Amino acid sequence: MNNRRHVHAVEWHSDKLVLLDQRKLPLEEVYVICQSVRQAVDAIKNMTVRGAPAIGITAAYACSLAARERLKETNHNNRLSLEASLRKDFEMLKAARPTAVNLVWAVERAQQVVDKNTAILDLPHELLRLAREIHEDDIENNYKMAELACQELSKTAGKPFSIITHCNAGSLATGGYGTALGVARLAWQQKLIDKVYADETRPWFQGARLTAWELMYDNVPVCLNVDSAAAWLMSNRTIKWVIVGADRIAANGDVANKIGTFQLAIAAKYHDVKVMVVAPSSTVDLSLESGDSIEIEMRDSSELTEFRGFPLAAEGVETINPVFDVTPARLIDVIVTEKGVIERPTRDKMLWTLS
Ligand code: MRU
Repeated sequence: MNNRRHVHAVEWHSDKLVLLDQRKLPLEEVYVICQSVRQAVDAIKNMTVRGAPAIGITAAYACSLAARERLKETNHNNRLSLEASLRKDFEMLKAARPTAVNLVWAVERAQQVVDKNTAILDLPHELLRLAREIHEDDIENNYKMAELACQELSKTAGKPFSIITHCNAGSLATGGYGTALGVARLAWQQKLIDKVYADETRPWFQGARLTAWELMYDNVPVCLNVDSAAAWLMSNRTIKWVIVGADRIAANGDVANKIGTFQLAIAAKYHDVKVMVVAPSSTVDLSLESGDSIEIEMRDSSELTEFRGFPLAAEGVETINPVFDVTPARLIDVIVTEKGVIERPTRDKMLWTLS
């Protein structure tokens, strides 16, 4: 792969967790430094860092921060009390955001390190080793998924076509190249696509602020549209695929992703446009039979009624702000993970590829 340049949402530098502050992009490139688990929890909650794999990686580093902090406390003179404190920290991390399973997945892996009787003094180091492994695997998985997805896209006959993406599933949402945007980057290099249409992604504008910025940074042609233009684009432009990431995928292939993905998939079905979901296996939750039991995060109404302090809506209006939705498996043509491609996902195919 010749283009491995990308922005870094999460980094570990000089024993500190460094996060690119995504609330400020694209106007300012500012970094937030976390030296405690509490700071990392706040950064996940307030969206300094966001995107399912990126919050999983952040949580993994935060587990090492937690161990370091707890060891410095004098009251932990025995293993049991240290473990009890760490368990509380880990629970606090898992609860920071409810929908993306990568967060829980990463913290549970950290818990396994604690449970296997790692010497107390080695815990910060061992947990850091795990976090680095999770981070590096995510980077490699992004490349694998991009290769697999492009093999799939290359089966689409005819001239280069355009794709629509929703939210931000790029470098800013992962450890590296991106999931959906990793595919877009490679598909552009391979001349399979001519343009990425980026839904602006209300209410947080991940598409306008992050996806457009990231793709422009890499010189991938990108055109910004309002979310409600998607059906019009499918009728009036050569869109052949919708390509998105995911926050949690149930065992039957139902996909939770940014609010608006479901209606995009419905519009795609009507227009014979195919839908591809690109996500590492850490986003798959085989413990859930279907997407019905995925918890959907509800966020503050101020995300709808104002933007950066500027009022947008009638004062006092009632609002509802679910920030994810579930797209049923029957609307999805392909799920791409680093473990393989699942066409028209069903429970059997998911289990065959992923377990
Ligand atoms: O609320 P966000 O910005 O964390 O939501 C992110 C998404 O919905 C992404 O599409 C998903 O996490 C996949 S990122 C590779």
